[in-house]
Formats: sequence, structure tokens, C-alpha cells
Amino acid sequence: MCGIVAYAGTKNALSILLDGLQRLEYRGYDSAGIFISNPKKDAVLKVKGKVNELRLLCDKETKEELFPIGLGHTRWATHGKPNESNAHPHVSNNKELILVHNGIIENYETLKKDLIQRGYTFESDTDSEVLINLFEEIQKTQQVSLEAAVQIGLNKVIGAYGIVVFDKKKPHELIVARLGSPLAIGIGKNDFFVGSDATPFLEHTKEVVYLNDFEMARLSFGEDIQVSNFKENTQIKAIINQLTFDLEHIQKDGFDHFMLKEIFEQPKAIENSLRGRIDLLKEEVQLDSVQKHESIFKNTKRIIILGCGTSWHAGLVGEYLLEKFTRIPTEVEYASEFRYRDPIIHKDDLVIPISQSGETADTMAALKLAKDRGAFIFGICNVVGSSISRETDSGMYTHAGPEIGVASTKAFTTQITVLILLSLKIAALRNTIQASESKRLLDELIQIPDLISSFLKQISEIKEIAKIYHKASNMLYLGRGFNFPVALEGALKLKEISYIHAEGYPAAEMKHGPIALIDKEMPVIVIATKKGHYDKIVSNVQEIRSRGAKIISIVSSGDESIKKMSDHCIEIPESDEIFSPLFATIPLQLLSYYIAILRNCNVDQPRNLAKSVTVE
Ligand code: G6P
Repeated sequence: MCGIVAYAGTKNALSILLDGLQRLEYRGYDSAGIFISNPKKDAVLKVKGKVNELRLLCDKETKEELFPIGLGHTRWATHGKPNESNAHPHVSNNKELILVHNGIIENYETLKKDLIQRGYTFESDTDSEVLINLFEEIQKTQQVSLEAAVQIGLNKVIGAYGIVVFDKKKPHELIVARLGSPLAIGIGKNDFFVGSDATPFLEHTKEVVYLNDFEMARLSFGEDIQVSNFKENTQIKAIINQLTFDLEHIQKDGFDHFMLKEIFEQPKAIENSLRGRIDLLKEEVQLDSVQKHESIFKNTKRIIILGCGTSWHAGLVGEYLLEKFTRIPTEVEYASEFRYRDPIIHKDDLVIPISQSGETADTMAALKLAKDRGAFIFGICNVVGSSISRETDSGMYTHAGPEIGVASTKAFTTQITVLILLSLKIAALRNTIQASESKRLLDELIQIPDLISSFLKQISEIKEIAKIYHKASNMLYLGRGFNFPVALEGALKLKEISYIHAEGYPAAEMKHGPIALIDKEMPVIVIATKKGHYDKIVSNVQEIRSRGAKIISIVSSGDESIKKMSDHCIEIPESDEIFSPLFATIPLQLLSYYIAILRNCNVDQPRNLAKSVTVE
């Protein structure tokens, strides 16, 4: 789970690589490095730490020279500690070949043993260094070009990778390849760009070729891109896509952090998720991706939702929605558990992997397992063209736009939005919802972006609450029904960015354990919206109050009963219970954000976490 950038052309690779790496830091940030080359000089520069430190080193070492070609890497350690020698790029023993790699080589130990027997030495503990020496060995023994050596070598390798390789003997050429780790190639007027996604080269070109698994490309200055399948050794016609988002989408827009920007982007993001999917005249959901496979959705006997982290929480909301409206039994599974427990999958199962990045390794493996066993796969992803979205039979994009903050925010609310649309659509196909009920809900749904926008204008009380509780060591989040997954998500947000221990619980389960934790020191956050188990949650709040806990409640506007019992109260717009996760999540995201800021935490890059987990 690392970020890769490369450039070949006439511009200065150094600044393109450094700017690009900075934008890819969300993929990993424990060390960084670059290789740059011009006819007179080349250099490998690496640091333990972030891209800013690499920039300082480059300023010192390169003195405004022009380097028309180079590779860069920002790392999230998988093999070997985060340090300089394990940082990429890696150089082959003969010092001729240079490589950056994202992924894991599973059989690296066997390959390494063989190379050691042939006299190779290794400077790092990484699997990546094995790969570059394997290419050197093939080049040497078979007298072939780097391109051919990569093609032969990758057929000996087991694992996942996105790689860029450079051979000093061909100083105008880059070889790139992928299996399981994403790679995008930007096609400029007179140059080539490579990135783990397109963000590093957005301002340079809008034309992009996404490599598929088992594909490699030769990017040779002055020639067209050459794509081939390295497994079948066949040429492939490169498909050029046009990028539809701009650089400003991935900048902070005046916000202090990406996370805050992305929280505030939620009205727009939800609007984009709804766009074109509701027929306003007929007041019904229109989803070609479902309609095209009508019989599958009509006849399926079971739905299995797969996901990790926040996407798994959205899946829980999805379970409630799908069962309520479609009456199809629905299960939600952690992808990592599902893939290894020999699950029972029927041919008429509908499997829904949910993933913001579309690159999460466990979700990918779980969906492949379900696909191999004959289930129909309907994906919900944010990143267009991502690996998961390309493996599915059909699906919906959330259209939330790039999410850079490691803690997921707008991805969650847009995943829920898409799940609402999907549930209503399937229910309409199966006649399990009255048209009038569907219309009523859709009318309410299209108002939600505006209501969230208004809510976001009055958040000063959340900052005040953060001031009071930012030193807490534990927090408990309680919710029922549709708001139980919201409680889990609220607790996850707090853990991820403020490092405060937090637990999410179904409010009624509190009596079966967590109630023992409650004392005067413990802030308890209760999500208690008007519709949906309101009376029951009033009783739960009384139980907590009588044990002296500090109560922060999230209530529907105009609520009086719970307000009276709470120390602090945040009012959100009143809505049908199915929509309350879209509202209730937002104050919880903001509370975590402001608490993390007061604790001086790195909100956008929390320790030990990465945005997309492309290793299991
Ligand atoms: C990582 C991220 C989480 C995310 C999870 C699943 O753990 O830090 O924010 O929810 O991966 O990612 P996905 O891209 O599959 O939704």
C-alpha cells in the first residue's frame, strides 16, 4: 500500500515526482524516495519520513539541474521496517536497473534464496529488492531487454504489484506493469506520467490509460504507449480515458485539513450520488445497472454485503435498508473473515462488495471468491476504474469525488445514499414497496443535501463539546436500529484520528457489559432521533444518567425529553428513520475532528493507518 509516481519526457521530473508523491501520501507515508536521471548524472535519494523531508534532501542534492526522467515512491511498510534502506527506489546489484513497487511478492523468500545462491546481495529487507535483482538475472542469463526480462520475471512471481522499472541502458524509457495494485498512465503531448492513481498528473494531462491485471506497458520517449499482456505475451490496444475531475478537487479549498473539507463536501457528494438516479417526474429510482439484470434482482434469495472499516459500517446500514424494503435476507460480512472461512455461496446469491477506494485487498479477494462460486457481484465503489469496480458484474459508483483524508467521511454517507437508492429500486422491482411510500421517501431524500448544508452552518456547539471532552480517555457511543451502525462509525472516527479509546454499542446491549464502565468520567454519546425506537432509547439514557455519566445526545430538532436528560445536545434535522444515519453521522465526524485537533493529532494522516489497504 504505497504510492508510485514516474515521469518520462522533457519537463523536470524532479518537481513532478515530488508534487505527485505529496498528493499520494494518503497511500502511505513512512518513507519516501526518488530516482532521477539526465545524461550527465543520476541519483537515488531516500528518507525515512514524509515527502517534505525528501523535498529538503532533493533541494540540497540536485541544485536546479534538469532531469527528464525519474521514479518516485511513498511507502507504507509491509516487508521490513520503515527506514532509508527499505525505502524505494531499489537498485539492482549491477546498479543498472531501478524499481519502485507497490504490493507484496509472496514467494520472495524462494526467489531471494535462489538469487543469493547465484551471488546476489541485498541491502534491504524488502520483497521489492528481490524483484529488481530477478530482472537483472533474467536480463543477464537470457540476454534480453528489460521489457522482456520483466515479462519473463513476472511469470515467476506470486503476489500483487504495481511496478515501474528503469534501465540505465535505455535512459528514455520506463517499463510499468500491474497485477492487483493500481497503476494509471497519463499520456501527455510529449511525455508520459505514471501514478498509483491519476492525482499526481492531473494538471499535466487529462488522458489516462488504466492498466489491467497482467498488463504491462513500455513508455518510450518519442513513441506511442505499447501495452501488452505479460501472461499471454500478446499486444493490447491501449484504451485512453478522459479524466473528469480537476486538481482543485483534490486540494484543500481553504480548509485546514482534507478531512474537514470532505465533511463539508457531503451535501455536494450526496447530491452527486443521487444525480440522474431519480426520475423526478415518475418519482421512482432509475438504475440501469439494476434494470439490466432485472431477473437477478427479482429472483435472488439472499444478499451478502462485503466490506472493511467504514465501508463495513455502511454495509450494516445497507442490511437494515435491504431487509426492510426488499424482504431479502441480507448478511454483512467483514471481507477478511469471509474470504478465509469457506463460506456457503449459492448461484442465486447477490453479493455487494462496498469499497471507497475499490482497492482493498480483502474486499477484492472476498468478491473474487464469491464470483468464482457463481454469485452475481454488484459493486459499490467510489474510485472510478478501480480494481474492485472492474471485477464486478454490475454496480454503482458513489461519485463522492476523491477522498484524501485517511478517515473516511463523505464515502460513508454516499455509500448509504447509494444503498438507499438500491434498496428502493429492488423493492420496486419485487413489489415489496408501495409506489406512494417510495415517492414519499424520494421526496424527502432529495431535500437532504440542503438540510445537511444548513446544519453545517451551525456547528459551534460541537467545537465547545470538543473543548470539554478532548482529554477523555474513553468514550461510549450508543444507538439503536439504523443508528447502531452510526454509533460504530462515530467510535471508529474518534479512535482513528484522536487515539481515544471508543466503543460503539447497540444501546440496549449496554446493560450486558459496557454499563460497568460508566462513571462520572465517561462521556457517553447517544444517538436518539425521534423516529425509530425513541421511547426505548429514552429508557437507555435514564439508565446511563443514573450512573452519573456525561451525556452528549444527538437528537431530532425540537426534541425535549432527551435534551433535558443530557449534558449537551446536538440537534439534527428530523427525518424518516432510514435517513437518520445521513444526518447523525455528521456531528460525530466533526466531534472527532475537533477533538483530534485539540489533541494535536495529525488528522489527515493518523499514525499507523493508510487510506487504502491493498495488503491483507
Ligand atoms: C482503511 C481506511 C478506512 C476504510 C477501509 C476500507 O482502513 O483507513 O477509512 O474504511 O480501509 O477501505 P475501502 O476503500 O475498501 O472502503
